[in-house]
Amino acid sequence: MKVASFPKTSCRRLEAKAALVTGAGQGIGRAVAVRLAAEGAFVGVLDWNRETARETLEMIQSAGGLGMVLHSDVSEPSQVISCVEKIKADQGKIDLLVNNAGLDRPGGFLKLDYNSFSDVFNVHVLGAVNCVRACLPCMLNEGDGRIVNVSSIYGKVGTKGESPYCCAKAGIVGLTKSLAKEFGGKGIRVNAVMPGLTNTPTIMEMMRPKYQEAFVRETPLARMADPDEIARPVVFLLSDEASYITGAVLEVTGGWGM
Ligand SMILES: NC(=O)c1ccc[n+]([C@@H]2O[C@H](COP(=O)([O-])OP(=O)(O)OC[C@H]3O[C@@H](n4cnc5c(N)ncnc54)[C@H](O)[C@@H]3O)[C@@H](O)[C@H]2O)c1
Repeated sequence: MKVASFPKTSCRRLEAKAALVTGAGQGIGRAVAVRLAAEGAFVGVLDWNRETARETLEMIQSAGGLGMVLHSDVSEPSQVISCVEKIKADQGKIDLLVNNAGLDRPGGFLKLDYNSFSDVFNVHVLGAVNCVRACLPCMLNEGDGRIVNVSSIYGKVGTKGESPYCCAKAGIVGLTKSLAKEFGGKGIRVNAVMPGLTNTPTIMEMMRPKYQEAFVRETPLARMADPDEIARPVVFLLSDEASYITGAVLEVTGGWGM
């Protein structure tokens, strides 16, 4: 498996910050975790796959970064609370949250059963809700918190055979904007990114090459993204450089779906 290399250059914009990244065992979440650590943050590497989460932490540590593995299912509120408590016990606070964990239940709308919808909603939407609920009290106490939710360009444009996923990713946009409005006055910024096709293990396994090629043909930048190309805008939104940005939904698609 190709893993993101540790970024060579960074300005350490997130020194002394404590972060939680969900779904950080591979793909975009791993790239975000690695880049946050390179920027100086302590990173809680949350994934329900303990082994891949360990690999991410090893990548962080071997480059001199700091973090901890948090083995957990984001759809289980009590597990999420205990992860956040572990970060707070170690770092005294939590400053940054990236809701990235996700899964897909593709299929024609009439063939999908109800569980396909609830499985996807439980992870993408309620998983994000669980993490925000667990982190917000501490962020509010500090008067500073930064959250980025990973949506998808499919949450904007929809697509055939992915109705649970598209609904959930659109739901994440609603959550982002609602939280941005409700908590902006208390120092909490909440933004979302909408990636386009990104070269992650799941995409490589699940999406047939002919569909990947068709997507790339319709992409103005004429290629798919590397996970670090999604991680960099996520880190920007978490940094002070984005201090006046909240409720934004940043499309990171190489121009697809504009
Ligand atoms: N790869 C793309 O082309 C693409 C495009 C748009 C949006 N996205 C979104 O970006 C995010 C990451 O995508 P990716 O391609 O890197 O995915 P991925 O499948 O490669 O990685 C997702 C990670 O989340 C973890 N995970 C899944 N459910 C979990 C749960 N309930 N609790 C804890 N961990 C869980 C998995 O173990 C995995 O490590 C997802 O939200 C996805 O929907 C991806």
